[in-house]
Amino acid sequence: VVGGGVVGLACALELLRAGHEVTLLVRNEKEAASRVAGGMLAPFSEGLTDELLEFSVESLGLWREFLETVKELSNRSVFFSKGILRVAKDERELDELKKLRSYYLKRFCSSAELAEGEELGKLYPKLSEKLAGGVFYEEEGNVDTEELTEALFTAFLRLGGELRREGALRVNRDGERVLSVKTHSGKLEADYFVFAAGAWTKELFDVPVFPVKGQIARAELPPDGPPFVVYARDAYLIPREKDLLLGATTERAGFDARPTVKGASALTGNALSVLPALEEAEFYELRVGFRPGTPDGKPVFYFGENFALVSGHYRNGILHAPLTARLVFLLIERREVSPYFQKFSPYRFRRT
Ligand code: GLY
Repeated sequence: VVGGGVVGLACALELLRAGHEVTLLVRNEKEAASRVAGGMLAPFSEGLTDELLEFSVESLGLWREFLETVKELSNRSVFFSKGILRVAKDERELDELKKLRSYYLKRFCSSAELAEGEELGKLYPKLSEKLAGGVFYEEEGNVDTEELTEALFTAFLRLGGELRREGALRVNRDGERVLSVKTHSGKLEADYFVFAAGAWTKELFDVPVFPVKGQIARAELPPDGPPFVVYARDAYLIPREKDLLLGATTERAGFDARPTVKGASALTGNALSVLPALEEAEFYELRVGFRPGTPDGKPVFYFGENFALVSGHYRNGILHAPLTARLVFLLIERREVSPYFQKFSPYRFRRT
């Protein structure tokens, strides 16, 4: 398995549990988008539609079991919180949220409490009075991604996985067959290869996956901080046990890993417009990560004779990890090809 983000780790774990010998190649685990990710499981708050929504909701359904398994196998605790409040800044946005809410309630979720105007204060009184309203999606949630990745690595090693701290430089292929993966220390062969290289996928395969820079801030969680994630169109606030995350910028800036003044200003300004009481909270740091973006914001799945490529999870890699791992497992173990390999095929980008 190439890639030490949550998607690669989830695939590796699933294969180990099925009795396979697994080697995991990790170029720099601190670089993976997963470490910096807010960890929101938020298909509705993100406003997803069509097959991306279907995939996301199906994966959301696997999440509780996935988390329990990771915790059990690693013997580590992983912070998880339930429910996300999606807020609207003006009436027009609230109308859009209401339409989406009705659509989601028809098929995709069973709980979506609507709060208009002052009703919002009943859900969390500290929110800005300027907000027009919101929808609380109880089935959504949030996971501490630092704790999650630590737990996944621990579980991987405990199950006998082999961890190699080096990146894949090149994939040697003969058509639809991968012969080996070149690394700095030599050539690696395997019966089967899984590539979950995130924003770095293009270094290995000719698919349109590119880095989308995200800056995310960490601040003190005030005593009367939000009891759940608050998600606005230009800011999200994620309360965790030890801090509050303020997310996130979306920038096309290649692999520029510099935190910027503009980023800090946008994140704090937008967060304050949702939660003015945050003003006096201590500012801890600014982090940078690279989402694996694609031209239509949907994943890229591909498979050959002895390999699978799972990438392009963009803003939803943490949410998508359990289902992606399941599909990879079914492909390898049972030769079962999920329709998502067709729906998320890279051929959709080909010009006719
Ligand atoms: N899923 C939130 C983000 O990518 O910023």
